[in-house]
Amino acid sequence: MKTKIFALLMFSSLLFMNSCTKEDDAVPPVATATPATQTITSGTATSVALTSSISGTTFSWTVVQSGVSGATPGSGTNIAHTLVATGEVAGTATYLITPTANGTMGSPVSVTITVNPVIAIVTYTVNIKPLLVNSCTPCHVAGGSNPNKWDSYATTKSNINGILDRVQRESGAAGFMPVGGPKLSATNISLLKKWVTDGLLEN
Ligand code: HEC
Repeated sequence: MKTKIFALLMFSSLLFMNSCTKEDDAVPPVATATPATQTITSGTATSVALTSSISGTTFSWTVVQSGVSGATPGSGTNIAHTLVATGEVAGTATYLITPTANGTMGSPVSVTITVNPVIAIVTYTVNIKPLLVNSCTPCHVAGGSNPNKWDSYATTKSNINGILDRVQRESGAAGFMPVGGPKLSATNISLLKKWVTDGLLEN
């Protein structure tokens, strides 16, 4: 009887030791950040969700900012920081996020946020001319086939309604501009509209 109890004790302590060993070799969590890259406008917030292969994982992060302010190191399951571009060009905030589950750290994952500055006032020279010369060449520029030249302020200004109409048509539809080129990005179309509401300024 005594031996039986002893054997039982030995067996259960072995089980216990075994579970301890398992704990020490705990599988590291695999973190996922969604999205891993994000582009926001200066003054708006990031929204990055942190999840892991193991439930109950905690996350902590460090951050390196370049031309951006507002990002701070921290912890949690969502990175929601209002970031501001400190210059006239886009800046970045790069987060390095480390997951921890059951005392075991997983490999860090990185997230890059690009922060675009808010353009105060859209002008022809700074914003519109480069955009149109880039997208509407070789036709609507000096030496090009079309008589309406978008590298001229006066011509562009007097044709702005037609330009806005053509660039907002469906790609491939009759009259769609640029002929043979990709549809202008939503950002560039907004820039053209903002040029109108800002007063069609040259400089
Ligand atoms: C490959 C040459 C080509 C490119 C690139 C092109 N266009 Fe045109 N565009 C034309 C031709 C040819 C016409 C005349 C036929 C028509 O009205 O569809 C025209 C007509 C227009 C018109 C109507 C007024 C006019 O001049 O007849 C507007 C507005 C216009 N284009 C805007 C643009 C804008 C904005 C871009 C760039 C985002 C662009 N186009 C790119 C060839 C081009």
